[in-house]
Amino acid sequence: MSSILVAVDGPQAGEWLAALREHAGGRELRVWPNDIGHPDDIESACVWNPPAGLLAGFPNLKAIINLGAGVDRLLSDPTLPKVALGRAAHGDLTMRVVGYVVLHVLVHHRRQRLYDAQQRERIWRVHHQPAAGEVTVGVMGLGVIGAAAANALVRLGFRVAGWSRTAKTLSGVETFHGQPGLDAFLGRSEILVCLLPRTGGTEGILNLALFRKLRRGAFLINAGRGPLQVEADIVAALDEGTLSGATLDVFAEEPLPKQSPLWAHPKVTITPHNAGDIAPQVFAPLVMAQIARFERGLPLDNSVDRDRGY
Ligand code: NDP
Ligand code: OXD
Repeated sequence: MSSILVAVDGPQAGEWLAALREHAGGRELRVWPNDIGHPDDIESACVWNPPAGLLAGFPNLKAIINLGAGVDRLLSDPTLPKVALGRAAHGDLTMRVVGYVVLHVLVHHRRQRLYDAQQRERIWRVHHQPAAGEVTVGVMGLGVIGAAAANALVRLGFRVAGWSRTAKTLSGVETFHGQPGLDAFLGRSEILVCLLPRTGGTEGILNLALFRKLRRGAFLINAGRGPLQVEADIVAALDEGTLSGATLDVFAEEPLPKQSPLWAHPKVTITPHNAGDIAPQVFAPLVMAQIARFERGLPLDNSVDRDRGY
């Protein structure tokens, strides 16, 4: 039986290894960086942010499974072998990100930061807020996660607009696509939620020119990828009143450097890239089942289109 490489960079490495081992069904796991063994034995790989060049060193590699939704780091490796490539797209991860989006839309909509400040001063004062049905949330990216977030927001009564690369129909959501649909989408959006992947077409998209096309005083939530946002432009947009606030889960450099002005900005909420805090014990059995199906000649689920970049 072939061996499976496990190469996980980050604090969850041990948890992933334990969960994948539990469901390995007798397959041998080889662990990067210390226990790779003979490279010829490796036929599949389960990875999260492996170092560039690592996967090119396995001549018999046939399948790679990305242990997360975004494949931008993986695809940025020019030596990445051109073998089958799948990614995480499952209910648990999706609902965690949806929960994050709903939480921060509501924190903004219900003016919770203002009430937190009032509580610190022992102030009892009610502030008006519009009904959800009077507020339009614009969701950028209507893929597995974006579509689920849009649906959840519709169920909460918000007016929801969505923007994707290709045309989409989603019940209760006003949809737009491509560059021609972008300005109309932005012009409606009072809360902008970004759930786009990082590709050549999305990098830097969250910039001052785009923010100025939103409804004035719009609120930004980015849980897509850090390089989609121009961080100096977010600060400028907040300071000029184009944006009234921002919740950011992802950053160009992670961890966010201590000297970043975002940390101390009074209108910014920062979370440490945990919107979709993936659970290895949930995803590991699905990964191993996929590898078993792949060995029987079936395609990987949620395969990545390398030309699209996601
Ligand atoms: P999908 O691949 O299912 O969806 C991507 C969506 O983005 C699609 O609707 C796609 O359009 C749209 N899109 C891609 N490129 C463009 C473009 N140039 N213009 C307009 N729309 C575009 O991804 P998921 O929903 O599974 O995940 C989205 C991203 O969320 C991930 O790539 C990852 O970066 C991020 N993420 C972050 C997490 C966190 O913890 N912060 C956790 C999980 C994911 P179309 O439908 O036409 O193809
Ligand atoms: C992911 C992430 O892409 O956690 O899964 O960012």
